[in-house]
Amino acid sequence: MPRRKHIKLAEVRTFENVFDYKDENVEEKIVNYLGSNKPVTLELGCGQADYSINLAKLYPEKNFIGVDRKAARLWNASKNATKEGLKNVAFLIAYIEKLNDIFKRIKVEEIWIPFPDPYPRRSSMKKRLVHPRFLEIYKNIILPNAKIFLKTDDDILFNYTLKVIEEENLILHKSTNDLYQSNSLTEEEKIQTKYEKQHLAEGKKIKLICFSFNNITLI
Ligand SMILES: C[S@@+](CC[C@H](N)C(=O)[O-])C[C@H]1O[C@@H](n2cnc3c(N)ncnc32)[C@H](O)[C@@H]1O
Repeated sequence: MPRRKHIKLAEVRTFENVFDYKDENVEEKIVNYLGSNKPVTLELGCGQADYSINLAKLYPEKNFIGVDRKAARLWNASKNATKEGLKNVAFLIAYIEKLNDIFKRIKVEEIWIPFPDPYPRRSSMKKRLVHPRFLEIYKNIILPNAKIFLKTDDDILFNYTLKVIEEENLILHKSTNDLYQSNSLTEEEKIQTKYEKQHLAEGKKIKLICFSFNNITLI
């Protein structure tokens, strides 16, 4: 392992805004750090957490948590948030698969999934962060009307997500296969992550889907 990454891995767990799912009482520690048990916005597979950081700046009254399994990536996220003086954003080293075990009190009002690994092969479809097995996890931690946003450059993932939304009878709020063609982007949609900037530099079109769970119960 390169020396720099080695240092980051050792250092990141000492930062006050970074938590590890293996820590005892990790949820309580996050709530204590954020200073309230207000609903949070989650950024999944956050990398350097451009969404969490920019949303935390836009909405200082709200709380944000960036989640990634790669601790070294959260080193950059944590440093950037600290540089900006943000106290309403925390980072969690965790597999998204573990979220149901971690979040018992924290309620989620919005989820952003920016540029997840697309896993284009059918054999690895289950790893896509919008696969029904992940939706089951999200369903247990979100508030009833919570919206889930996916941004991707990948056609297969984009079409797959639309298919899942239809098959699972979810509510589709927005879908575009060329986000920047629209001239009515929200401030949230305009946020660009590290991966998004790379895709745009390569001339790729950015796609966005927003959906929520169908909460209507039929009698
Ligand atoms: C392609 S990168 C995108 C990073 C960032 N969202 C961006 O747009 O710049 C995907 C990220 O998702 C994380 N990831 C993928 N699957 C994950 C999982 N099951 N649990 C936690 N993190 C995951 C990876 O570690 C990686 O940092």
